[in-house]
Amino acid sequence: MTHFGPLSIAEGAELRLWEACDAVELTEVIAANREHLATWLPWAETQGFQDSVEYLDLKRLQLEANDGFEAALVLDGEIAGGVGFHRVDWVNRSTSIGYWLAADAQGRGLMTAAVTALLDYAFFEWELHRVIIEVIVGNERSRAIPERLGFRQEAILREAKLVRGSHEDTRLYAMLAPEWAAGGADREGAERR
Ligand SMILES: CC(C)(COP(=O)(O)OP(=O)(O)OC[C@H]1O[C@@H](n2cnc3c(N)ncnc32)[C@H](O)[C@@H]1OP(=O)(O)O)[C@@H](O)C(=O)NCCC(=O)NCCS
Repeated sequence: MTHFGPLSIAEGAELRLWEACDAVELTEVIAANREHLATWLPWAETQGFQDSVEYLDLKRLQLEANDGFEAALVLDGEIAGGVGFHRVDWVNRSTSIGYWLAADAQGRGLMTAAVTALLDYAFFEWELHRVIIEVIVGNERSRAIPERLGFRQEAILREAKLVRGSHEDTRLYAMLAPEWAAGGADREGAERR
């Protein structure tokens, strides 16, 4: 089974696997950020305590099934976001990453650092070949993350996500293992690799 974290990604900020006991705090942070999140993430519209319990249970099963993991981003001891792998396609050695941050944790590079840590894990620990990120067209803050890290936009997926009753186009970004090992496209910290 995967062992991940806790992993420091910035001063006062760490990634750690979700735990069943996070349900109350997770529900509260989503409720406090509902409008901010639900604009792009449909599940945030209605997520309540029971949904959080079920989500955390699914994440435990995901870990047990060796199908990737999702992690809490903890800032100064409080849950400030989530980031992780939706699932792992071991046959094709491919995965996808999703993420969200509380509104007041934005603007410090935390999610860029978190996604960097997950890419290192996917490519160097699991030796996967391809990682994708899908972003709704118009979500400029989210799009900036794969672009900052040197992902290549491969396609526009037509009406791929249903958000608030509207079928939205998404941008498909991908990073391949040799590109990441070579330093992406001028991403920060690339010279350390
Ligand atoms: C998408 C989301 C996680 C992006 O958050 P973010 O704070 O912009 O992303 P980061 O944490 O990587 O921070 C980048 C910002 O910090 C700044 N920054 C500061 N130090 C930095 C550093 N060392 N490295 C990178 N960026 C840094 C960047 O300039 C950027 O700020 P800017 O947008 O004002 O230019 C957040 O907006 C969110 O959760 N949105 C709602 C949910 C969502 O859309 N999820 C994604 C669905 S695909």
